[in-house]
Amino acid sequence: MNVASEKKKLVIAIDGPAGAGKSTIASRLANRFGYVNLESGAMYRALGLKAMETGTPLDDGERLRGLAGNSSIDLKPTPKGNRVLLDGRDVSERIRERDVTDAASRVSVHPGVREWMVARQREMGAQGGVVMEGRDIGTVVFPNAEVKIFLDADPSIRATRRVVQHNATDDPEKAKKLVADLQERDRRDSTREVAPLVAAADAVRIDSTRMTIEEVIARAEEIVEEKIAQTLHAK
Ligand code: DC
Repeated sequence: MNVASEKKKLVIAIDGPAGAGKSTIASRLANRFGYVNLESGAMYRALGLKAMETGTPLDDGERLRGLAGNSSIDLKPTPKGNRVLLDGRDVSERIRERDVTDAASRVSVHPGVREWMVARQREMGAQGGVVMEGRDIGTVVFPNAEVKIFLDADPSIRATRRVVQHNATDDPEKAKKLVADLQERDRRDSTREVAPLVAAADAVRIDSTRMTIEEVIARAEEIVEEKIAQTLHAK
């Protein structure tokens, strides 16, 4: 029985560092509860790509804010996952590449850029029924989200997962670069001045270091089910 469909649709916020498994969990939860899966990192990636293509310096917050204002960045959920449209162009694959990953993290430090992103993300989630994943969803974008999960894992495990994901297990040079990138991104994302990566005080933490993905999914589903049951009883 899908209890969620009988009542108000919730906002589910999933935050955590790169490589913790947020995307997998978010898309599984969205499928399970009939919610829309919105990946906020893809929006920063799209802006990073646009900055690269237009030659906008990644350290110029004011110009980047202007660039965002003149852009359309849309997340189109499809049964096969989110597609990401930048000014109407499908950039879903391109934004996963290494250079864009780095640019995304750099553009995301600027307060003006974040303000624009947060406003857009709030519009997208205003009706509820969304699983939004990122770094600041439970702290800044939706501080009143009904469900907040902070998904974490040891840096070494996250690095290993990243290497496997990029088919670099037999390529030590590539693996080394991926690990270095991840460490640098961790550092930048958690030390920036605006909305650094931190768990919301009321988030449920899941440390996936010693868990299989199925165990993490089961735990996350349990957290959501509990919240749905509580909300039903509160009516
Ligand atoms: O989740 P991701 O790895 O695709 O995110 C890419 C970058 O975007 C990440 O390094 C930090 C930034 N980001 C952010 O600052 N806030 C979010 N809510 C999501 C991503």
